[in-house]
Amino acid sequence: MKAKAFQQCIIPSCGETYDLHALRTACEKCGNLMDVRYASKPSPTLKEVFDERRNHRGDIFNESGVWRFRELINFPGVDCDDYDAYSNILVSLDGAEGRTKPFHLTRVAEYVGMRSENLWLQFEGDNPTGSFKDNGMATAFTHAKMLGVKRVACASTGNTSSSAAAFAANEGIEAIVFMGEGKIAQGKLAQTLDYGARVIQIRGDFDDAMKWVKELVTRKGLYVVNSLNAFRLEGQKTMMYRLLAYLKWRMPDWIVFPGGNLGNTSAFGKAFKELYDWGWIKKKPRMAVVNAEGANTFYKLFTELGVTWNGGRVDDDIIDSYYTDLEQQGRKAKTKASAIEILQPVNLKKALRTLEYTDGVVVQASDKEMLDARAIVGRNGFGCELASAATIAGIKQLVSEERIQPDETVVGILTGHMLKDPDTIIQYHLSPGNTFSNTPHVVANDLQSILAIL
Ligand code: F0G
Repeated sequence: MKAKAFQQCIIPSCGETYDLHALRTACEKCGNLMDVRYASKPSPTLKEVFDERRNHRGDIFNESGVWRFRELINFPGVDCDDYDAYSNILVSLDGAEGRTKPFHLTRVAEYVGMRSENLWLQFEGDNPTGSFKDNGMATAFTHAKMLGVKRVACASTGNTSSSAAAFAANEGIEAIVFMGEGKIAQGKLAQTLDYGARVIQIRGDFDDAMKWVKELVTRKGLYVVNSLNAFRLEGQKTMMYRLLAYLKWRMPDWIVFPGGNLGNTSAFGKAFKELYDWGWIKKKPRMAVVNAEGANTFYKLFTELGVTWNGGRVDDDIIDSYYTDLEQQGRKAKTKASAIEILQPVNLKKALRTLEYTDGVVVQASDKEMLDARAIVGRNGFGCELASAATIAGIKQLVSEERIQPDETVVGILTGHMLKDPDTIIQYHLSPGNTFSNTPHVVANDLQSILAIL
């Protein structure tokens, strides 16, 4: 009998399959990325079940915005109606991950030139460790637990490491984290240290750290929890399930989000492809991925150099020569949005596949555009970290270029919490020249001086 879930190389002409329990980040035959594949087609009647689970009745796996959708990511093959069976296997931060939903923000809508009712923003910073990563760690750690793993590793710009460290602490697993020294925001470093991960700061950047992690996976058999891990991406699909369930399965026209290592791009595309193939949806939204200008490999390759998925026949020569040029020029990623300061995204091919499935686009945003966009989210009484504001800057650009039409609906994903990086926010406000700066008044410690400024 064919297993209910298995792993498969993403390249159709290879298509090599592997057992669910293999620890694998690349195909043995052709070296490409892996997908988690399901043999069965979940029934659309589950839409009602997902709704009912929002009244969780004390079940943390119904509370969890990831495991509420367990039938759609059921690689462990659990009986989804039997609490004793699934609670033994599924990993959760006590049901706290993925409890997010989309909001309307009037000032942001005005800023990007859209009608408020057409723009939704989903705050993934509301996750327990303050970023969308908790969605994916719930599933990656479930797979790690199935394999009896005692040690996980990742490279990180800070959010992956925070989330991995928190899940590892909860599961009694050791987490080893590689990061570029001075390349991560203070809040993220604080979390990663405090949750007890072993932190290795290398004198390099994220791309260097990722290279070492890949090497160590092969040499030491470390279990990697970066988005190279196909099981992590299964959890990240639930961001799309949540917004669809919230919108009562009415399909938005666009989903807009930042692109760094391109894990979300890959996961979101897979989510919609599967729902479409299962007959749950008739239409797919278009994906718009926003790169930081100083970390714009995806933009360069897709938008400028015309590299596409091409049914799985990606032009590797263009990609190779792009990377050779980068190396020869000694170019490194450079942006204030440190979360997405990445020039060699590991999920590049899966992300190209998503663009093909969804008629997607890639745009880029400057640091100034992201800083102003971030400040506007703050002005709306919410907040997000700088990389997340790439979403707002991207929407603004697409609206002004009339690629997003006035009557279209857009969901933007805000990926991380504003308090991850307070330094960037304070610096912005301390500089009166910035468009939305809010500089504090410093006054003498007496009533006259205080009254004088009011
Ligand atoms: N937004 C935030 C806040 C992030 O932390 C990241 C990635 C992204 C967007 C990009 O997402 O990789 O799926 O394209 N952060 C990783 C980390 C690299 O190590 O925390 P992606």
